[in-house]
Amino acid sequence: MKYSTKDIEDIIYPYLPEEKGYAKPVLEAMNYAFRAGGKRLRPMMMKLCFDMFCDDGVDVNVVEPFMAAIEMIHTYSLIHDDLPALDNDELRRGMPTVHVKYGEDIAVLAGDGLLNYAYQVACGALRHKPGNVCIEKAMYILTSKPGIYGMIGGQTLDVTMSGQELSDSQLDYIYKNKTSALIECAMTIGATLAGASDEVIEMIEQVATCVGMAFQVQDDILDVVGDAQKLGKPVLSDEKNDKYTYVTIHGMDVAKSYVHSMSDKANNILNSLSVVNNDAKDCLMNLIVELINRDK
Ligand code: IPE
Ligand code: IPE
Ligand code: MG
Ligand code: MG
Ligand code: MG
Repeated sequence: MKYSTKDIEDIIYPYLPEEKGYAKPVLEAMNYAFRAGGKRLRPMMMKLCFDMFCDDGVDVNVVEPFMAAIEMIHTYSLIHDDLPALDNDELRRGMPTVHVKYGEDIAVLAGDGLLNYAYQVACGALRHKPGNVCIEKAMYILTSKPGIYGMIGGQTLDVTMSGQELSDSQLDYIYKNKTSALIECAMTIGATLAGASDEVIEMIEQVATCVGMAFQVQDDILDVVGDAQKLGKPVLSDEKNDKYTYVTIHGMDVAKSYVHSMSDKANNILNSLSVVNNDAKDCLMNLIVELINRDK
């Protein structure tokens, strides 16, 4: 039941576009960013949430295109986040960022390309189950969480507040949207495609919100005390960009205990859920614990 990064890559890589034709430069850049590495946490969490509620009748062919799609959307968000106009970073997943390798024009287009292609790939799930209501609901989640009422909203406040101290409500909005939204997207799609009830999906969303908040605060911690080699991205990016983060506002010790308490909260909710597949639940809970002390 436990999935390795490689297991997830074996599922999602076949969905990448072929690098051919006049648009080859952008296709190459998309695939470069996607294949560069990364923990593949969002598709992994999607699959575990799918497995938790999956009874034998549900087809994995519906979840796999969505797993590829969420990683494409996440990868696009990283390409654009690293652009000179945003965080201006030159290393990602241990490789030169897309704008460094291919130029800014292609990096913008590669991000756009991955975002659009994600939806094209996810629509492929309908081929297996035309008219399926769970797939329709999952498509709605996939279109909304990364958007203006989700990740884009969070990134917008993040960039516009550079250099300015954040209120508690602004900090909460940024973290909940720029980071939790994609994790909520991943986990609720998994549960939705497996046919979980609305009530259960709402609880999974709460789990994901907590996981995302903990994940971003740990990311901020690693930006200060992490190792660039291990992280595969530069440290001190937040300081360079004059960002107020949970760590600069509350200090390292409070930040560390926040990561613990949010992860505990996530696992307490999960623990209270009755699921079809308890192995998958244990695995997700273990993953959440592992992320508390992650160093990459
Ligand atoms: C980085 O996400 C962006 C944040 C939300 C902090 P990940 O740490 O999941 O990046 P990869 O996919 O492993 O490269
Ligand atoms: C970005 O947060 C989250 C995204 C939506 C991409 P950061 O800017 O802190 O992410 P990293 O540290 O560059 O991965
Ligand atoms: Mg950023
Ligand atoms: Mg960044
Ligand atoms: Mg960061």
